Amino acid sequence: MAVAFDSARWEALAAARTRGDVGDGIASVLALLGRTDVISFAGGFPAPETFPREHVAALVQEFAAAGELSAFQYAPTRGLAGTLDAFTGRLERLQGRRPAEDELLITSGSIEALELVGKSFLDPGDVVVVEGPTYLGAIQSFRSFEAELVAVGFDEHGLDVEELERRLAGGVRPKLLYTIPDHQNPAGVSLAADRRAALVELARGYGFLVVEDVAYRELGFGGESLPSLWSLGPDVVVQAGTTSKTLFPGVRLGWAAGPAEAVDRLVAAKQLTDQCAGALGQRLFEESERRGWIDDQLERSRALYRGKCDRMLAALERSMPNSARWTKPGGGFFSWLTLPGIDAFELAERAIEHGVAAVPGTLFFPDGRGADSLRLSFSLVVEEQIDEGIARLGAIL
Ligand SMILES: Cc1ncc(COP(=O)(O)O)c(C=O)c1O
Repeated sequence: MAVAFDSARWEALAAARTRGDVGDGIASVLALLGRTDVISFAGGFPAPETFPREHVAALVQEFAAAGELSAFQYAPTRGLAGTLDAFTGRLERLQGRRPAEDELLITSGSIEALELVGKSFLDPGDVVVVEGPTYLGAIQSFRSFEAELVAVGFDEHGLDVEELERRLAGGVRPKLLYTIPDHQNPAGVSLAADRRAALVELARGYGFLVVEDVAYRELGFGGESLPSLWSLGPDVVVQAGTTSKTLFPGVRLGWAAGPAEAVDRLVAAKQLTDQCAGALGQRLFEESERRGWIDDQLERSRALYRGKCDRMLAALERSMPNSARWTKPGGGFFSWLTLPGIDAFELAERAIEHGVAAVPGTLFFPDGRGADSLRLSFSLVVEEQIDEGIARLGAIL
């Protein structure tokens, strides 16, 4: 007698935490990226012209010629000593705070840092507060731990901290609050300075941990930035950072910086996932940082993304109906387009038929909101195609 491995069998075998919509949202976005006939404002990938191909080739050659075997070997779970030192120096230089040895961990991309936070702190049913809208990967990551997600409002100055305060006073008791304070994904706005200080005070007052995602922090078009939450509240904030947008994402590399009590737990959790971030990526980052190449690359990247963003905003101005509103990002990859009375899912489907892709807003909320909004990403689209893409979207409307 054999059991049929049909879809019902797979459903029965799968863990409860994998059911629901976990994975589907990102998969549908990635599927659009493969289509060459579409002008895509969908994927939030970095522009390939920013990739430091020659530097990477030279460094790998250097490691091989010098017999530097640590670049090819397993690394300690926290990271290679030299790379930790390079990250420590960079954090001190850019954020004005130097993490102690036990306050820093090198991760395999920042999505792994979120995964480790979930593994270490979330039991089924625990409450995680997010900003609505927020990063789809984070929604899916926290959901995979069967957390209950509560979305707090958001405006052009970022998370509505006063609303958060009211919700806390009203009895919401999060273990974690996840926020992207700089050039947020998907809305492209940043958290105002006074709200940053107030948020840290709320975390102290109510005893929850803030998870600060700084994926776009170093991509401010003007190069300037507000104090990071971690620098304001190193006792209550875990910062998840990534080199995906500043170096390149092909080596999965990022960091988690936070209170030693939290980082120790993340280190323990990492021993049960991949044990260590790839040593080759760590060495590439370290050498690029020490030689000043990352800052040079960032300067070029900022100029490139600023140009694409300006072009997209100008095209929106020309092509959108009067009722439409969109955010004016000061950095990062995204603008958030709101079209009152329009069903964005339907619009996204029709746009694909006309050779344009954008992501419907509901994917970025844990509670079904965002039905009249689209995320427009300008990072990857070819600059010369931006006008045409936005004009096509406008024509459908
Ligand atoms: C806000 C945010 N956090 C994290 C990530 C993931 O970064 P990484 O490549 O380091 O996993 C992304 C990637 O799109 C992102 O937009």
